[in-house]
Amino acid sequence: MEFKNLAKARRTERSYDAGIDISDADVKSILRLASHSPSAFNLQHWRFIVTRDESVKSDLYEYCYFQKQIVECSAVVTVCGNLSAHLEAQEIYEYQPSEVKNKFIPMIDAIYSTDPALQRDEVMRSGGLVSMSIMYAAKNEGWSTGPMIGFDPKKVSLRLNLEENILPVMMLTLGKPKNAAEERAHRYPVEELLHYETYGNARSS
Ligand SMILES: Cc1cc2nc3c(=O)[nH]c(=O)nc-3n(C[C@H](O)[C@H](O)[C@H](O)COP(=O)(O)O)c2cc1C
Repeated sequence: MEFKNLAKARRTERSYDAGIDISDADVKSILRLASHSPSAFNLQHWRFIVTRDESVKSDLYEYCYFQKQIVECSAVVTVCGNLSAHLEAQEIYEYQPSEVKNKFIPMIDAIYSTDPALQRDEVMRSGGLVSMSIMYAAKNEGWSTGPMIGFDPKKVSLRLNLEENILPVMMLTLGKPKNAAEERAHRYPVEELLHYETYGNARSS
């Protein structure tokens, strides 16, 4: 789909046709495309948990405050982020020329290793970017999605066996819609959001 149409067609789906399965191949193809997303220093903080099993979904339904799209959708993709991604710099930069390695590996260590708040910020930034890519990739392949942060992160982490350094960033439902999309909700006109050069200048010079 042309990006112009894709951007307009993507909507948050909350009502899925519960009888539709999604194959491993279809999920992988969406996640493979989304993995081309950018991340700071190419650290690729994202990890994905794909849940299709009814018993796991039913627990997630409870931990998502009974949002029914969790049980109706074909798969839930929990986008997670690795707080320790900076420790993987050696592996990620392994095949880079030595001047690149020598520059970036110590820099990554210096920036992240003693700053847990920045580690978390980066997980959220990368997780947000890859989540958006998943939603566009899915739409382009004919699947609808719904982003969700309405969940209890502690309970979800426990149920999905997340290690201590892996945070749930966002849950994405994936499936085929039961109903036609509703009218798009309010969007600010871009002019109301736009500032030129510095904040507060509504006019371009
Ligand atoms: C970070 C994030 C969290 C969201 N959490 C939920 C959620 O828990 N449940 C829900 O029904 N929708 C959730 N939404 C969907 C928003 O309500 C939706 O994106 C917004 O109303 C705009 O509608 P649209 O996506 O159809 O353009 C979330 C969206 C984002 C980006």
